[in-house]
Amino acid sequence: MDGIREMGLRRVSSHCSIPEMDDYDLLRLLDKPKLNIERQRSFDERSLSELSIGLPRGGLENFETMYSPRERSFMGTPASSARNSFEPHPMVAEAWESLRQTLVFFRGQPVGTLAAIDNSDEVLNYDQVFVRDFVPSALAFLMNGEPEIVKNFLLKTLRLQGWEKRIDRFKLGEGAMPASFKVLHDPIRKTDTIIADFGESAIGRVAPVDSGFWWIILLRAYTKSTGDLSLAETPECQKGMRLILSLCLSEGFDTFPTLLCADGCSMIDRRMDVYGYPIEIQALFFMALRCALALLKHDVEGKEFVERIVKRLHALSYHMRSYFWLDFKQLNDIYRYKTEEYSHTAVNKFNVIPDSIPEWVFDFMPTRGGYFIGNVSPARMDFRWFALGNCVAILSSLATPEQSMAIMDLIESRWEELVGEMPLKICYPAIESHEWRIVTGCDPKNTRWSYHNGGSWPVLLWLLTAACIKTGRPQIARRAIDLAESRLLKDNWPEYYDGKLGRYIGKQARKLQTWSIAGYLVAKMMLEDPSHLGMISLEEDKQMKPLIKRSTSWTC
Ligand code: GLC
Repeated sequence: MDGIREMGLRRVSSHCSIPEMDDYDLLRLLDKPKLNIERQRSFDERSLSELSIGLPRGGLENFETMYSPRERSFMGTPASSARNSFEPHPMVAEAWESLRQTLVFFRGQPVGTLAAIDNSDEVLNYDQVFVRDFVPSALAFLMNGEPEIVKNFLLKTLRLQGWEKRIDRFKLGEGAMPASFKVLHDPIRKTDTIIADFGESAIGRVAPVDSGFWWIILLRAYTKSTGDLSLAETPECQKGMRLILSLCLSEGFDTFPTLLCADGCSMIDRRMDVYGYPIEIQALFFMALRCALALLKHDVEGKEFVERIVKRLHALSYHMRSYFWLDFKQLNDIYRYKTEEYSHTAVNKFNVIPDSIPEWVFDFMPTRGGYFIGNVSPARMDFRWFALGNCVAILSSLATPEQSMAIMDLIESRWEELVGEMPLKICYPAIESHEWRIVTGCDPKNTRWSYHNGGSWPVLLWLLTAACIKTGRPQIARRAIDLAESRLLKDNWPEYYDGKLGRYIGKQARKLQTWSIAGYLVAKMMLEDPSHLGMISLEEDKQMKPLIKRSTSWTC
């Protein structure tokens, strides 16, 4: 223990650089007065062949600590493909060209990418820059050695955060980040202005809880990829982070460390029974907290947040790993739960009635494998599998290494259900019939196996690929990418696919959907050079392990 403490101390006080800060001893931080961030880059130049071929299972721990500077692209040529001796897939060049067409400029500077450039339908708000949609674009640009646009985006959205935000007569929290923004060009007066949507124009009028988390995650990705700490260290960025954190760390009536949310506050931005404590938000919350921990300065204001983050991370990881985790054994335990238990000795803490377990989950659950379920709250377990939350749980190390392996085992053994002919289902299974009526409010866009209700979203390919690389299973990602390559370009980059197998272009899917394009590029670049993974992945924090006491099959 002393040795570990020693190491933690040494790391923090003497040669701590951003790449190394993610896995240091969290507990030590509580009594560390000052985090000394040296502007020092850690290089690890492994050969391409060593990285991309024959990765051992679970063997990529060190990628997170890498920093690999990329050469700048020239004249729109992707540096990633120019670098290689082998021929890149013809789709790669097409994808770059389409991605560049989505660029949005503000006063001559690129500040983001449009959600889609499909003008065939009513535009709705797809002509805006969405924060969540920009993430894969940003990663593609970072991986291609073009960090400027990412920096501009981070600064622009930070300015928007400073706006006073109102919905009718109600004022939103200061830290709220927009769901999207739009640049308005006035050709006569030659001026550019911005309008932003914090939920007041969105369908359902819900604020995007995920935007702030993605913003922090992206700030770390930028810092990690460029080695440039100066952006994150500016008083503006430090304040922006603190404001986001104030929103999600505030004290209230909560008895759980998870974050209570309204339906439609993230990628699934319509009523889909994801209110309460949705896995997508909890995983992003966890990841953003860990990223903020690495980026916050330990000055007077920052230190207070660091302490709150450390405490919350411990409680959150315990709660998630214990109560959201489902595998064969856990399912069997819930199936045999007693109800109406009282006091702290209760096993069935949330009074879940076994009869509420849906039939499908008994068949879906493989003997080997597991996943974080969709939601846990009093008397309610949403057993649906959600792609984004489970992939982010792997990337952020919210999942223990054993749980990460189990998530991948499940994806492999339920390939047909979760991937089928187009990666990847947003959630499984779809909600149908009477339940669909009640749960979605008869939403015609979210009919079974369509859109947010069991539709297949190509954008999720980058998250799946990242999770595959982190768990040492690049062959799974390769399989998924092959599927995407057989259709995506031909179908003109749809937003989503419909059907149990994802065979049909989505009923109302946009074409030339930017994050479908960028997601494909990011997946390709990561598989080609897995050291990119470090931008978006955090190593396990060893200190969280001993806190898990519950005996289930995954506990070590
Ligand atoms: C849809 C999606 C949302 C996405 C937006 C722009 O509303 O549900 O996740 O951000 O389109 O692509």
